[in-house]
Amino acid sequence: MKIAILGYGTVGRGVDQIIAERVDGVEVTRILELPDRLSDPRMTASYDDILADGEIELVVECMGGVEPARTYLMAALESGRHVVTSNKAVVAAHFAEFAAASVASGAGLFVEAAVGGGVPWIASVEKVRRIDEVTSFSGIMNGTTNYIVDAMRRQGAEFDVVLAEAQRLGYAERDPSADIDGIDVLNKTIISASVAFDVACEKNLPASGIRTLTKADLELFAAHGRTVKLLGRGVAADGRYAAAVEPVAVAADSLEASVPGNFNLLTLDATTVGELKFYGQGAGSLPTGNAIVQDVLDCASGARRPVYDFTRPLAYDPTLLRADYVLRTTAELGDTEPYGPGAVLVRDLTAEGARALLDEALAADPTTFMAALPVA
Ligand code: HSE
Repeated sequence: MKIAILGYGTVGRGVDQIIAERVDGVEVTRILELPDRLSDPRMTASYDDILADGEIELVVECMGGVEPARTYLMAALESGRHVVTSNKAVVAAHFAEFAAASVASGAGLFVEAAVGGGVPWIASVEKVRRIDEVTSFSGIMNGTTNYIVDAMRRQGAEFDVVLAEAQRLGYAERDPSADIDGIDVLNKTIISASVAFDVACEKNLPASGIRTLTKADLELFAAHGRTVKLLGRGVAADGRYAAAVEPVAVAADSLEASVPGNFNLLTLDATTVGELKFYGQGAGSLPTGNAIVQDVLDCASGARRPVYDFTRPLAYDPTLLRADYVLRTTAELGDTEPYGPGAVLVRDLTAEGARALLDEALAADPTTFMAALPVA
C-alpha cells in the first residue's frame, strides 16, 4: 500500500521511521511539508499533488490544528482514501462530519493516535463494544500535566519551576495553555466519549485545568490521603451520558495516583468485562508513530475498519456527573464546609455547576484552585 504523510514534525518522522525500519508492504511515497522544508524527494508543499496521485490509498495526518487539516481530511475521505490521524483537535471538532464522509465513500477513518498516544485505547474501546456497553471511562490523558503534578509532588516544587523544567525537556509547549487549562484533555474526552458511547459527543463540556495548582494544595490533599490528577471522564446510563474534564483529588493509594512522569492511564468500565486499565506513553515520536502504524496495518490488512455511526439516541445530561468539590480560595462562597487552611468543601455539585462555581470564585480570587472529590 502506498501512503502519504501530511506533516513531518515529531509524529510524522516517527511514522516514517517505523515504516522504513519495521514494516513490509507499506511505502511512504509522498509527504506534505512546508515550502521552505522540502528536504526529501518525496516531499511536496501542494496537497493537490497528493490528491492527484492515484497510487496513494491512505493519508496519515499529523499536522495538528483544525485548518487546513479538516479540509485535507474531508478531501481524502471524499476521494475514497483511508484516513489515519493523530490530530485530536480536528477530530474532536469534526468527528461526526468525518464519520459521515467515511461511511459515504467507504474509506476507513482511524483515530487511535489522537487519544493516549501509543496506548491502544480506541481500538480496545471498540473491541469492548462488540459485546458490552461502556458504562464509564476516565483517564490521565495528558502527559505534560501528569509530569508537572508528579514532579511537584515528588520534589516539593512549585508549579512554575516544574513547568519551566517540562518545557526545557520538551514535554510542555512554549505556550502550555492547551495542556494546563485542560483543552487537550477536553479534545481527547470528546473523542473517547464519542467512541465509547457511540454518540456525536457534546462539545461544550465542563472543563478546567491545573494552572493554579500550588505545592500547598498538594500538601493539603496529601493530609487527607489524596493527590491531584487531571482526569477526563465520561459516564452513560439510562439512555443518557455526561462527560467532563477537571482535576480530581484521587486516593493516594489508587493506581491513578501512582502514574509517574508523562505517562497516561486510561480506564473503562463495561457490562461483562468490568474494569479495564490501559497504561503507557501518551505522546512522543515513536509511541504515537506506533499507534498510527498499527492503524495503517489494520487498514492495509482489512483486520479492522472502524465505522462510526453516531446515531444512538443518547441524550447529553450533565446531571449524571456529580461529586463533592474542594476549592482553595479567598472568595466568599455560599454553602460550604471547612476542608483545610484556606480551603472549603462544597457538597454534591454537577461538574457543570462546579465549573460555574469555579468561575465565580476566580472572579474574586484569580489564584483559586478546585478539585473534585470522588466518592470513596
Ligand atoms: N501535549 C500532549 C500531552 C501531547 O502532553 O499529552 C499528546 O497528545
